[in-house]
Amino acid sequence: MTALHVPGADNLLRGSLLHASENQALAHWLTHHPLGRQVASRFVAGESIEQALDAVAALARTGITATLDHLGETVRDAPQAEAATLAELDLLQRLAPLGPACNLSLKLTQLGLDISPSLAEQNLLRVLARAGEVDQFVRLDMEDSHHTTATLKIFQAAWAAGHRNCGIVLQAYLHRTQRDVDMALELGCRVRLCKGAYAEPASVAFANKTETDENYVALAWKLLARGYYPALATHDERIINRVKLWPIDPQQFEFQMLYGVRPELQRRLAQEGFRVRAYVPFGVDWYAYFMRRLAERPANLRFFLATLLKEPFG
Ligand code: FDA
Repeated sequence: MTALHVPGADNLLRGSLLHASENQALAHWLTHHPLGRQVASRFVAGESIEQALDAVAALARTGITATLDHLGETVRDAPQAEAATLAELDLLQRLAPLGPACNLSLKLTQLGLDISPSLAEQNLLRVLARAGEVDQFVRLDMEDSHHTTATLKIFQAAWAAGHRNCGIVLQAYLHRTQRDVDMALELGCRVRLCKGAYAEPASVAFANKTETDENYVALAWKLLARGYYPALATHDERIINRVKLWPIDPQQFEFQMLYGVRPELQRRLAQEGFRVRAYVPFGVDWYAYFMRRLAERPANLRFFLATLLKEPFG
């Protein structure tokens, strides 16, 4: 494991893990491995909605709200997109009694973006209509840069159609995000700012982490100063500590973190009076999400391999 600490090795490993996150054979192997679920359970709340709601209830007991993500990124045809849309409609019904304590996050590829943008848009409008009926909020996660323009276009169409119960995610590692933040400020929509989790070429994203971090801080300040209830999605304590010093009413924004990542920091911020929301993923299609979490912190790979290697491979 010492290779994990060789300069440059982390970047190489990160790239390999992100590449592997798209490997269907590996996905099949891991999700069917007897220990697969066990290793994924650090970052994934379970495969069923009941398990996810248990996790949401446990978070609520520590003063942390949630956003649920029904995992699924391998939608390849219209019937699969329809099934995913129906699942989101159903999920909204289940979330209705929880109100703002638990909202919904989804990816437009789940609703059919890779099949046709108009299919994804129609499906999103159905989801937002249901969300409106049950007074719920829907966040559109942001995927890799091939999907950025289409995702924002569909979001803007939904906004123009009068849906105000939705928000977007913008990624600080993309060069374009400064402009997208300005667009969001003009609309007055809610933005979740994250650093970005996908493998992107230097033509579209900062290759250097310091530049991403600096851009994150600049965009966070802009959103906090002029935006409507922004969400700062990061576990980066240096950034969080800076934000805590800014003269911003802590009720006017929320910190967001991933289920299973820095849970002690999540609880501490909640105890200090900050609003904290955890992103709680669940479902059988957890492989790509899990691999992105490994890629974010190569040390996670040690824990993963240690668990798998403890038992003979099945
Ligand atoms: P950074 O990667 O610099 O990590 C800072 C510190 O946090 C690390 O030193 C470590 O201590 C801890 N940490 C971070 N990731 C960890 C992990 N996986 N395991 C253990 N510790 C970890 N991305 C995207 O492209 N589209 C999206 O829609 C979203 N949505 C989203 C929602 C929410 C609520 C969060 C928190 C994040 C996302 N992301 C995302 C992911 C995001 O882009 C980013 O990849 C991760 O949050 C990691 O970046 P940090 O800001 O935490 O900083």
